[in-house]
Amino acid sequence: MANPKGAFFLAQILFILINFYLGNCFSTDPVAQQKLDRVGKLPGQNFNVNFAHYSGYVTVNEDSGRALFYWFFEAAEDPDSKPLVLWLNGGPGCSSIAYGEAEEIGPFHINADGKSLYLNPYSWNQVANILFLDSPVGVGFSYSNTSSDNFNNGDKRTAEDNLQFLLKWFERFPQFRGRDFYIIGESYGGHYVPQLSNTVVKYNQATGKKAINLKGYMVGNALTDDYNDRLGIFQFMWSAGLISDDTYKLLNDLCDNESFIHSSSSCEKMLDVASEELGNIDPYSIYTPSCVANVSQSNWLLKKMRTVGRIGEKYDPCTEAHSVVYFNQPEVQNALHVVPSVAPAKWETCSEVVNTHWRDSPRTVLDIYHELMPSGLRIWIFSGDTDAVIPVTSTRYSIDALKLPTVKPWRAWYEEGQVGGWTQEYAGLTFVSVRGAGHEVPLHQPKLALTLIKSFLSGRSMPTLEQIPLSDS
Ligand SMILES: *[C@@H]1O[C@H](CO)[C@@H](O)[C@H](O)[C@H]1NC(C)=O
Ligand SMILES: *[C@@H]1O[C@H](CO)[C@@H](O)[C@H](O)[C@H]1NC(C)=O
Ligand SMILES: *[C@@H]1O[C@H](CO)[C@@H](O)[C@H](O)[C@H]1NC(C)=O
Repeated sequence: MANPKGAFFLAQILFILINFYLGNCFSTDPVAQQKLDRVGKLPGQNFNVNFAHYSGYVTVNEDSGRALFYWFFEAAEDPDSKPLVLWLNGGPGCSSIAYGEAEEIGPFHINADGKSLYLNPYSWNQVANILFLDSPVGVGFSYSNTSSDNFNNGDKRTAEDNLQFLLKWFERFPQFRGRDFYIIGESYGGHYVPQLSNTVVKYNQATGKKAINLKGYMVGNALTDDYNDRLGIFQFMWSAGLISDDTYKLLNDLCDNESFIHSSSSCEKMLDVASEELGNIDPYSIYTPSCVANVSQSNWLLKKMRTVGRIGEKYDPCTEAHSVVYFNQPEVQNALHVVPSVAPAKWETCSEVVNTHWRDSPRTVLDIYHELMPSGLRIWIFSGDTDAVIPVTSTRYSIDALKLPTVKPWRAWYEEGQVGGWTQEYAGLTFVSVRGAGHEVPLHQPKLALTLIKSFLSGRSMPTLEQIPLSDS
């Protein structure tokens, strides 16, 4: 080459051009990609926020073309000193952005117009950096270029893909590498959370490095053990006065030893009978009104309920429907870096396809609890006590089956002088119930849920009566 300097210059120009071209949608440099993932002001956001947030895709499998969608919120104050929390909703098939972000613990909640946002005053990003992940593929904005993948999801691949997601996400966000990390989830997340925790612990052991600094996990109204969960559901529905004596007996006869995800037709029929007896209540929150509008609520444990009732004044049972309107707007998707050509054509809170084609689903995850407890992880289980879908009775039977010694006995915990719920501490596990909360605890009792996450992250017992703040005003 006659002029090496010129060639170098040309190569540089070429590099810049290629980078510019790719930069609009994709960058090979993970940290550059972090910058591209930064989200600006969202459509319908007519307020300012003092925290940065990011969203986009992480490829978890190159061969099949599987990519998971995340939305990450830095803590509102001092994110560098706060832990990192991964939040997973269940289903299987439900979006962590639809539930966790938009109606539970995220900062951006959606007004009834489906167009505008409001700031959730009880957002968990007051105490942690929060990462919402739509998993597995086919859920929310997550996708696979191999369409058969959507019909072949199961527990095992979900955990593996989610591990790949975490490893790549930490490359994109190196400032959070080594940060205290917690995995928290709800409902079918009762499977995802311990399974992913186990996968992370195994990965760390195999590599001899603490690539992911997992400190603990927490699950709420969590599917844990099919036998004990079934037992608790039927007992709860009967004792809350929702089903007849005959149905209670038949449910115990026909469904007691049935898998949750793959149950027999005789058990399914009995669940239909129970569902009919329940009437038009919201089984996820039996004492609050149900939504009267058309909601694509995927009732995956009980059959779809007809939704007739009265809208309450404060609690909005239709919040799920607002998110369907909001997240289907092209300008919202554009702001969140969704790629419409690859993402599912219509954004749904829960994917029926993913749910009905679910593959492996072990009947219990209690074995994982036993396996993980010696590793010293902080493990908490909470339960909203007005949920009929995975009620507090189910959770208590499952914990009982672990046969753990009690460290601190059953007692009430308090929030501003009122009982917020009950707690019992076992060797290796803490149980917390949240009084008057349904399946989605932070939706129904946002203030109590914030107290819960504060206690969990600090590793302190739930507040006692004496601990109440002297003055709150
Ligand atoms: C999926 O296919 C599209 C179109 O070919 C491509 O742009 C995208 O990068 C692929 N996604 C993954 C995760 O490989
Ligand atoms: C419960 O189901 C399992 C798995 O199908 C089976 O092996 C077991 O025998 C069943 N137990 C009873 C008491 O029916
Ligand atoms: C509600 O859903 C039903 C069935 O999908 C549909 O026929 C009806 O038009 C919907 N009503 C409204 C008000 O959207």
